[in-house]
Amino acid sequence: MQCLCKNSPFLKGTLLIFEVWIIKKVYRAADHKLLWQILKKIEGKYGTLEDKQSLIFITRLSANFSQIRKLFDSVYHGRRDCERQFQNLILILYTRYRERSRSLKALDRRRENEPEWLLSNQWVGMSLYVEHFSNDLKGFLDRIDYLQELGVNLIHLMPLLKTPRKEGDGGYAVSNYRKVSPDLGSMEDISNIARVFRKRGMLLALDLVLNHTSDKHKWAKKAKQGDKKYREYYYMYPDRSVPDLFEAHMPEIFPDTAPGNFTFLPKQKKWVMTVFHRYQWDLNYRNPQVLIEMVDVLLFLANQGVDILRLDAAPYLWKEIGTGCQNLAEAHTLLKLMRRCAEVVSPGVKFIAEAIVTPTEIIKYFGQHEDPECDIAYNATLMALIWNSLATTKANLLYQSLNKLPEKPTGATWINYARCHDDIGLGFDDEDIYQVGFDAKMHRAFLLDYYTGKFQGSQAKGALFMHNQHTGDARISGSLASLAGLEKAIADKSVEQTMLSINKIILVHALIMSYGGLPMIYSGDEIGLLNQYDYLSDPGKKADNRWMHRGDMDWNAAEKRNVAGSVQSRIFNEIKKLIEIRKDNLYWSDHNSSRLIHSGNQHILAFTRSEPDSQRFSMLVLANFDSNIQSVGKDLLIRAGLQADSEISDLFTGSPPTIFKGFIELQPYQFYFIVEKPE
Ligand code: GLC
Ligand code: GLC
Repeated sequence: MQCLCKNSPFLKGTLLIFEVWIIKKVYRAADHKLLWQILKKIEGKYGTLEDKQSLIFITRLSANFSQIRKLFDSVYHGRRDCERQFQNLILILYTRYRERSRSLKALDRRRENEPEWLLSNQWVGMSLYVEHFSNDLKGFLDRIDYLQELGVNLIHLMPLLKTPRKEGDGGYAVSNYRKVSPDLGSMEDISNIARVFRKRGMLLALDLVLNHTSDKHKWAKKAKQGDKKYREYYYMYPDRSVPDLFEAHMPEIFPDTAPGNFTFLPKQKKWVMTVFHRYQWDLNYRNPQVLIEMVDVLLFLANQGVDILRLDAAPYLWKEIGTGCQNLAEAHTLLKLMRRCAEVVSPGVKFIAEAIVTPTEIIKYFGQHEDPECDIAYNATLMALIWNSLATTKANLLYQSLNKLPEKPTGATWINYARCHDDIGLGFDDEDIYQVGFDAKMHRAFLLDYYTGKFQGSQAKGALFMHNQHTGDARISGSLASLAGLEKAIADKSVEQTMLSINKIILVHALIMSYGGLPMIYSGDEIGLLNQYDYLSDPGKKADNRWMHRGDMDWNAAEKRNVAGSVQSRIFNEIKKLIEIRKDNLYWSDHNSSRLIHSGNQHILAFTRSEPDSQRFSMLVLANFDSNIQSVGKDLLIRAGLQADSEISDLFTGSPPTIFKGFIELQPYQFYFIVEKPE
């Protein structure tokens, strides 16, 4: 049959027409000419391009060239230096490609041949601050065994490039993109860790702070000195006329500590755009030189052996008067451009979009099939609504919002997380809140009260972050364990509340592990670290209460993971068990194979996972958000895709779920991973 098809003249004709159509569609004679010109230039600089490595580069460049050109033009056309800058960009690509080590190039090729490598159930992430975890990068090497004991193997080291000690925003105000903070170590330490990770089958993720530099960065310093070239790297204005036009539509990120989006420089008598803190100057991507510099930095970091780059504050890259200056089309174009550039030089390196925006906007950071952007994005919807569900004891808003989330493109994946270094924003849709019967404003006010422990009966111990007195809006700070009630339970010496809060901690980890995506644990959560309040005595930190959940790793507490019956032992070992279960079951990999189902009980979230290819049922997950026993009818099993007579078991406990009078029962905050019992 196959043979027949191959020889069919009809099929051959169709294929030919198809090929011509493709060539016509992508082939642009002008691009071809330009590509030749650029390759000649590269040859002029570096000599012949006939070696095998250069041929690989040329192949990748040719495949991406028209698209890179189109994206670049769409932002920079009309500028006199457009063509020259474009050529500079391509030259940088080759320069960085030449510097890329042989072993990284070999890794790139392996990953090119296995495009879905990142979707695997084998990956489990953790984010950590080196200074809080192990003091420095050398000390970090001694702690890798601990990470492997837990089972995490994708490690996001929080920003560690050079930042001013005082005004550093936890590493997000970079003053040198090519140097590591001297307190932590050096760039060689990073490459070394990347090498050790590769040997141990682990992945390294680092931040790339794209949107702004520190005001101590040399570009900013030169701009302050009046250097015209560097002034054009930023948004600088002699008076308030343009800033006022911008401000009319821009929200404030840090209204408490850094109100407004511009900062006045008294010596220079200039206003500079500072969307985040006053010392974080927004880069002006209207200037192609800025794009080229940052692509260069991106590839420099990729060449240190970094596997994944977290593109910080991605939605903010483009600013336009009359808009909120977030999620603009040009920001997406810039990200797509960066992606294509990496595709040519370091195709094994993947991007995380840090876009904590509304669900319908987040999804756009994946790009489209034929025009990809980032490989990974934070599932902020799941994160924020897990906290909402714990506060309300109900899964209805979570169900409603996740159900509405458009499916992501195949090949892309979520970071599923419960907590990170930032505040928890309540950025879900007002419309969804109305749909489940609440008033959006009142509901958010309730959540703020709940997580700051003001609401009667709440066990949570968090704090309001960036509380806006006028609108009442705020976000939430606090460690996962303290928000889940553990801090209060321990202070109250309540055994019952301690148990309940541990159940909550395990429940949220069960969800981020099984929902479909890359689970990312926040360091310390695996032993239930509580809020730490010593940041209040540090003048550089006390105004930013996100530091309460960025405390030091408590290694003494971590030791207790081996003491049976301790809080640490239960949390650590149960998370470890969740990780083992994830790695044992291939269908936990992310192939868009999670389906929510209506559980019929508003306290219980239900979803299924299926085999990636056949869509055959594999597992039903049930999660109870209530502090009481809850149940669902057995008919749910059939609706989930199980056979009526099948014997079932829970992967977590290894026993069948409790079934009473035709109802499946769940204890407070219990979850089940229901599978068919193997025959
Ligand atoms: C990101 C970081 C946050 C930082 C901000 C400014 O959102 O996660 O911690 O304050 O960017 O760089
Ligand atoms: C990022 C996030 C936002 C967060 C802020 C500061 O911009 O998008 O949600 O509040 O950083 O932490």
